[in-house]
Amino acid sequence: MKKDLLSVLDLNPEELKKIFELAKVLKDETKLKKKVREDLKGKTLALLFEKPSTRTRVSFEVAMYLLGGNSLYLSANELQLSRGETIGDTAKVLSRYVDAIAARVFSHDSLVELAKNSSIPVINALSNLEHPCQAISDMFTIQEIKGKTTGLKIAYVGDGNNVANSLMLAGSMLGMEVALCTPVGYEPNKELLKKALEIADNQGGKLLILHDPLEAVREADVIYTDVWVSMGFEREREERRRIFSNYQVNSYLLGKAKEDAIFMHCLPAHRNEEVTDDVIDGPHSVVFQQSENKLYVQEAILKLLIP
Ligand code: CP
Ligand code: NVA
Repeated sequence: MKKDLLSVLDLNPEELKKIFELAKVLKDETKLKKKVREDLKGKTLALLFEKPSTRTRVSFEVAMYLLGGNSLYLSANELQLSRGETIGDTAKVLSRYVDAIAARVFSHDSLVELAKNSSIPVINALSNLEHPCQAISDMFTIQEIKGKTTGLKIAYVGDGNNVANSLMLAGSMLGMEVALCTPVGYEPNKELLKKALEIADNQGGKLLILHDPLEAVREADVIYTDVWVSMGFEREREERRRIFSNYQVNSYLLGKAKEDAIFMHCLPAHRNEEVTDDVIDGPHSVVFQQSENKLYVQEAILKLLIP
Protein backbone atom coordinates (compact mmCIF):
# COMPACT_ATOMS: atom_id res chain seq x y z
CA MET A 1 0.00 0.00 0.00
CA LYS A 2 1.21 3.50 -0.76
CA LYS A 3 2.37 5.64 2.14
CA ASP A 4 1.69 9.37 2.39
CA LEU A 5 3.51 11.93 4.51
CA LEU A 6 0.91 14.57 5.31
CA SER A 7 1.77 14.91 8.99
CA VAL A 8 4.61 14.03 11.35
CA LEU A 9 1.97 11.67 12.79
CA ASP A 10 2.31 9.52 9.65
CA LEU A 11 5.69 8.39 11.01
CA ASN A 12 6.71 6.60 14.18
CA PRO A 13 9.95 7.21 16.12
CA GLU A 14 11.66 4.24 14.42
CA GLU A 15 10.82 5.58 10.96
CA LEU A 16 12.09 9.02 11.97
CA LYS A 17 15.40 7.51 13.07
CA LYS A 18 15.61 5.49 9.85
CA ILE A 19 15.24 8.73 7.85
CA PHE A 20 18.06 10.30 9.92
CA GLU A 21 20.38 7.33 9.31
CA LEU A 22 19.73 7.39 5.59
CA ALA A 23 20.05 11.17 5.38
CA LYS A 24 23.44 10.97 7.09
CA VAL A 25 24.70 8.38 4.60
CA LEU A 26 23.43 10.49 1.69
CA LYS A 27 25.01 13.65 3.12
CA ASP A 28 28.38 11.97 3.76
CA GLU A 29 28.41 10.49 0.26
CA THR A 30 27.48 13.80 -1.35
CA LYS A 31 30.14 15.68 0.61
CA LEU A 32 32.75 13.12 -0.42
CA LYS A 33 31.90 13.15 -4.08
CA LYS A 34 28.73 14.51 -5.62
CA LYS A 35 27.43 11.84 -7.90
CA VAL A 36 24.04 10.95 -9.28
CA ARG A 37 22.64 7.72 -7.84
CA GLU A 38 20.24 5.37 -9.58
CA ASP A 39 17.76 4.71 -6.74
CA LEU A 40 14.89 6.56 -8.41
CA LYS A 41 15.92 6.16 -12.04
CA GLY A 42 12.89 6.56 -14.29
CA LYS A 43 10.74 8.00 -11.47
CA THR A 44 9.12 11.43 -11.51
CA LEU A 45 8.05 13.66 -8.62
CA ALA A 46 5.40 16.32 -9.29
CA LEU A 47 5.73 19.44 -7.16
CA LEU A 48 2.26 20.94 -7.01
CA PHE A 49 2.61 24.35 -5.35
CA GLU A 50 -0.09 26.90 -4.50
CA LYS A 51 2.38 29.18 -2.68
CA PRO A 52 5.94 30.42 -3.31
CA SER A 53 8.97 28.44 -2.15
CA THR A 54 12.74 28.67 -2.39
CA ARG A 55 14.18 25.94 -0.14
CA THR A 56 11.50 23.25 -0.35
CA ARG A 57 11.12 23.47 -4.11
CA VAL A 58 14.83 23.59 -4.92
CA SER A 59 15.83 20.89 -2.40
CA PHE A 60 13.13 18.49 -3.65
CA GLU A 61 14.11 19.12 -7.28
CA VAL A 62 17.82 18.61 -6.59
CA ALA A 63 17.04 15.57 -4.41
CA MET A 64 15.18 13.89 -7.27
CA TYR A 65 18.03 14.70 -9.64
CA LEU A 66 20.66 13.28 -7.24
CA LEU A 67 18.60 10.09 -6.87
CA GLY A 68 18.55 9.63 -10.64
CA GLY A 69 14.93 10.73 -11.09
CA ASN A 70 13.07 13.64 -12.54
CA SER A 71 10.89 16.41 -11.09
CA LEU A 72 8.15 18.52 -12.52
CA TYR A 73 7.23 21.89 -10.98
CA LEU A 74 3.51 22.57 -11.34
CA SER A 75 2.32 25.95 -10.19
CA ALA A 76 -1.33 25.44 -9.19
CA ASN A 77 -2.45 28.57 -11.03
CA GLU A 78 -1.10 27.20 -14.31
CA LEU A 79 -3.00 23.91 -13.98
CA GLN A 80 -6.65 23.32 -14.90
CA LEU A 81 -7.20 23.36 -11.12
CA SER A 82 -7.25 27.14 -11.48
CA ARG A 83 -10.20 26.80 -13.89
CA GLY A 84 -12.21 24.60 -11.59
CA GLU A 85 -11.00 21.03 -12.26
CA THR A 86 -11.39 19.14 -9.00
CA ILE A 87 -8.50 18.08 -6.78
CA GLY A 88 -9.81 14.51 -7.05
CA ASP A 89 -9.64 14.44 -10.85
CA THR A 90 -6.22 16.13 -10.79
CA ALA A 91 -4.96 13.47 -8.37
CA LYS A 92 -6.26 10.62 -10.53
CA VAL A 93 -4.65 12.04 -13.65
CA LEU A 94 -1.28 12.79 -12.02
CA SER A 95 -1.22 9.26 -10.54
CA ARG A 96 -1.10 7.94 -14.11
CA TYR A 97 1.91 10.07 -15.08
CA VAL A 98 4.16 10.46 -12.05
CA ASP A 99 5.36 8.39 -9.07
CA ALA A 100 4.80 10.82 -6.17
CA ILE A 101 3.43 14.28 -5.49
CA ALA A 102 4.88 16.87 -3.11
CA ALA A 103 2.22 19.54 -2.58
CA ARG A 104 2.28 22.97 -0.93
CA VAL A 105 -1.26 24.14 -0.27
CA PHE A 106 -3.25 26.74 1.63
CA SER A 107 -5.74 24.29 3.13
CA HIS A 108 -4.61 21.01 4.69
CA ASP A 109 -7.94 19.54 3.50
CA SER A 110 -6.71 19.90 -0.10
CA LEU A 111 -3.79 17.62 0.76
CA VAL A 112 -6.09 15.06 2.33
CA GLU A 113 -8.29 15.15 -0.79
CA LEU A 114 -5.24 14.82 -3.03
CA ALA A 115 -3.95 11.82 -1.04
CA LYS A 116 -7.37 10.15 -0.95
CA ASN A 117 -7.63 10.24 -4.73
CA SER A 118 -4.01 9.38 -5.59
CA SER A 119 -2.62 5.90 -6.04
CA ILE A 120 0.89 7.34 -5.44
CA PRO A 121 2.50 8.80 -2.28
CA VAL A 122 1.60 12.40 -1.42
CA ILE A 123 4.06 14.47 0.61
CA ASN A 124 3.13 17.63 2.50
CA ALA A 125 5.50 20.37 1.33
CA LEU A 126 3.70 22.82 3.72
CA SER A 127 0.04 23.40 4.48
CA ASN A 128 -1.73 25.77 6.88
CA LEU A 129 -1.56 23.00 9.49
CA GLU A 130 1.86 21.35 9.18
CA HIS A 131 5.32 21.44 7.61
CA PRO A 132 6.48 17.89 8.39
CA CYS A 133 9.52 17.74 6.07
CA GLN A 134 10.83 20.89 7.76
CA ALA A 135 10.45 19.47 11.27
CA ILE A 136 12.03 16.13 10.34
CA SER A 137 14.95 17.92 8.75
CA ASP A 138 15.30 20.25 11.76
CA MET A 139 15.44 17.29 14.14
CA PHE A 140 18.16 15.80 11.95
CA THR A 141 20.11 19.07 12.23
CA ILE A 142 19.77 19.08 16.03
CA GLN A 143 20.97 15.47 16.15
CA GLU A 144 23.90 16.34 13.87
CA ILE A 145 25.03 19.28 16.00
CA LYS A 146 24.22 18.07 19.51
CA GLY A 147 24.79 14.33 18.93
CA LYS A 148 21.29 13.54 20.25
CA THR A 149 17.74 14.84 20.47
CA THR A 150 16.29 12.92 23.43
CA GLY A 151 16.49 14.89 26.66
CA LEU A 152 17.30 18.23 25.00
CA LYS A 153 15.15 21.28 25.53
CA ILE A 154 13.80 23.16 22.50
CA ALA A 155 12.08 26.50 23.03
CA TYR A 156 9.90 27.71 20.16
CA VAL A 157 9.09 31.40 20.54
CA GLY A 158 6.51 33.00 18.24
CA ASP A 159 3.43 32.00 16.27
CA GLY A 160 1.83 28.59 16.93
CA ASN A 161 1.73 27.98 13.16
CA ASN A 162 2.35 25.08 10.75
CA VAL A 163 6.07 24.96 11.59
CA ALA A 164 5.35 25.00 15.34
CA ASN A 165 2.74 22.23 15.02
CA SER A 166 5.11 19.87 13.23
CA LEU A 167 8.05 20.75 15.45
CA MET A 168 6.01 20.03 18.58
CA LEU A 169 5.02 16.60 17.20
CA ALA A 170 8.53 15.66 16.06
CA GLY A 171 10.17 16.91 19.27
CA SER A 172 7.69 14.96 21.40
CA MET A 173 8.24 11.85 19.31
CA LEU A 174 11.97 12.08 19.98
CA GLY A 175 11.60 12.55 23.74
CA MET A 176 12.60 16.23 23.85
CA GLU A 177 11.41 18.87 26.26
CA VAL A 178 9.38 21.18 24.02
CA ALA A 179 8.50 24.63 25.35
CA LEU A 180 6.10 26.36 22.98
CA CYS A 181 5.80 30.03 23.77
CA THR A 182 3.19 32.14 21.95
CA PRO A 183 0.99 35.14 22.65
CA VAL A 184 -2.41 34.17 24.09
CA GLY A 185 -4.69 33.15 21.23
CA TYR A 186 -1.81 32.04 18.97
CA GLU A 187 -1.17 28.63 20.51
CA PRO A 188 -0.62 25.57 18.28
CA ASN A 189 -3.51 23.53 16.86
CA LYS A 190 -5.56 22.02 19.72
CA GLU A 191 -6.02 18.54 18.24
CA LEU A 192 -2.34 18.20 17.36
CA LEU A 193 -1.41 19.52 20.80
CA LYS A 194 -3.49 16.79 22.42
CA LYS A 195 -1.76 14.15 20.29
CA ALA A 196 1.67 15.64 20.98
CA LEU A 197 1.00 15.55 24.74
CA GLU A 198 0.14 11.84 24.53
CA ILE A 199 3.26 11.15 22.44
CA ALA A 200 5.49 13.13 24.84
CA ASP A 201 4.09 11.08 27.69
CA ASN A 202 4.85 7.79 25.90
CA GLN A 203 8.32 8.84 24.77
CA GLY A 204 9.48 10.30 28.07
CA GLY A 205 9.38 13.84 26.72
CA LYS A 206 7.74 16.97 28.07
CA LEU A 207 5.55 19.54 26.34
CA LEU A 208 4.69 22.92 27.79
CA ILE A 209 2.58 25.76 26.35
CA LEU A 210 3.87 29.06 27.71
CA HIS A 211 3.37 32.77 27.14
CA ASP A 212 6.54 34.17 28.71
CA PRO A 213 9.61 33.98 26.40
CA LEU A 214 12.06 34.32 29.32
CA GLU A 215 10.54 31.32 31.06
CA ALA A 216 10.51 29.34 27.78
CA VAL A 217 14.19 29.79 26.92
CA ARG A 218 15.56 29.08 30.41
CA GLU A 219 18.03 26.13 30.13
CA ALA A 220 17.11 25.69 26.45
CA ASP A 221 19.53 23.88 24.11
CA VAL A 222 17.70 25.13 21.03
CA ILE A 223 15.79 28.36 20.38
CA TYR A 224 13.54 28.27 17.33
CA THR A 225 11.38 30.92 15.74
CA ASP A 226 9.44 31.50 12.55
CA VAL A 227 7.74 34.48 10.90
CA TRP A 228 4.87 36.24 12.66
CA VAL A 229 2.96 36.51 9.38
CA SER A 230 2.78 33.23 7.49
CA MET A 231 1.79 32.97 3.84
CA GLY A 232 -1.94 33.58 3.60
CA PHE A 233 -2.10 35.78 6.73
CA GLU A 234 -0.86 39.00 5.11
CA ARG A 235 -4.06 40.86 5.97
CA GLU A 236 -3.28 40.45 9.70
CA ARG A 237 0.19 41.91 9.29
CA GLU A 238 -0.11 45.09 11.38
CA GLU A 239 -2.11 43.43 14.15
CA ARG A 240 0.37 40.57 14.37
CA ARG A 241 3.42 42.86 14.44
CA ARG A 242 1.91 44.58 17.46
CA ILE A 243 0.83 41.39 19.26
CA PHE A 244 4.13 39.56 18.69
CA SER A 245 6.47 42.47 19.49
CA ASN A 246 7.53 40.95 22.84
CA TYR A 247 8.30 37.60 21.20
CA GLN A 248 11.34 38.71 19.21
CA VAL A 249 14.43 36.50 19.48
CA ASN A 250 17.24 39.00 20.17
CA SER A 251 20.61 38.74 21.89
CA TYR A 252 19.04 39.47 25.29
CA LEU A 253 16.68 36.49 24.98
CA LEU A 254 19.38 34.26 23.49
CA GLY A 255 21.58 35.17 26.47
CA LYS A 256 19.01 33.63 28.83
CA ALA A 257 19.30 30.16 27.22
CA LYS A 258 22.18 27.72 27.74
CA GLU A 259 25.59 29.09 26.79
CA ASP A 260 25.91 26.63 23.89
CA ALA A 261 22.31 27.03 22.70
CA ILE A 262 21.75 27.04 18.95
CA PHE A 263 19.38 29.36 17.11
CA MET A 264 17.13 27.86 14.43
CA HIS A 265 14.66 29.28 11.89
CA CYS A 266 13.04 27.45 8.97
CA LEU A 267 13.55 30.59 6.79
CA PRO A 268 12.61 32.79 5.05
CA ALA A 269 13.12 35.24 7.94
CA HIS A 270 11.66 38.68 8.34
CA ARG A 271 14.84 40.16 9.74
CA ASN A 272 14.49 42.41 12.77
CA GLU A 273 10.90 41.27 13.30
CA GLU A 274 10.92 37.77 14.81
CA VAL A 275 14.74 37.69 14.96
CA THR A 276 17.40 40.38 15.02
CA ASP A 277 20.30 40.46 12.56
CA ASP A 278 22.89 39.90 15.29
CA VAL A 279 21.22 36.62 16.32
CA ILE A 280 20.51 35.18 12.87
CA ASP A 281 24.02 36.15 11.66
CA GLY A 282 25.69 35.37 14.99
CA PRO A 283 27.76 32.39 16.17
CA HIS A 284 24.78 30.50 17.66
CA SER A 285 22.82 30.50 14.41
CA VAL A 286 22.62 27.28 12.36
CA VAL A 287 19.95 28.43 9.91
CA PHE A 288 21.88 27.70 6.72
CA GLN A 289 22.95 24.25 7.90
CA GLN A 290 19.23 23.72 8.49
CA SER A 291 18.44 24.75 4.90
CA GLU A 292 21.17 22.49 3.51
CA ASN A 293 19.92 19.47 5.43
CA LYS A 294 16.49 19.71 3.81
CA LEU A 295 18.18 18.30 0.69
CA TYR A 296 19.50 15.13 2.33
CA VAL A 297 16.46 14.52 4.55
CA GLN A 298 14.06 14.91 1.63
CA GLU A 299 16.26 12.57 -0.44
CA ALA A 300 15.86 10.03 2.36
CA ILE A 301 12.09 10.60 2.50
CA LEU A 302 11.75 10.16 -1.27
CA LYS A 303 13.85 7.00 -1.20
CA LEU A 304 11.69 5.51 1.54
CA LEU A 305 8.30 6.52 0.10
CA ILE A 306 8.71 5.94 -3.63
CA PRO A 307 8.68 2.21 -4.35
N1 CP B 1 11.58 26.59 4.95
C1 CP B 1 10.88 26.56 3.81
O1 CP B 1 9.98 25.73 3.61
O2 CP B 1 11.26 27.49 2.90
P1 CP B 1 10.59 27.78 1.49
O3 CP B 1 9.28 28.46 1.75
O4 CP B 1 11.57 28.67 0.78
O5 CP B 1 10.39 26.47 0.78
N1 NVA C 1 5.11 29.58 8.65
C1 NVA C 1 5.65 29.96 7.38
C2 NVA C 1 6.70 28.97 6.97
C3 NVA C 1 7.37 29.24 5.64
C4 NVA C 1 8.37 28.18 5.28
C5 NVA C 1 4.54 30.07 6.36
O1 NVA C 1 3.65 29.22 6.35
O2 NVA C 1 4.55 31.03 5.58
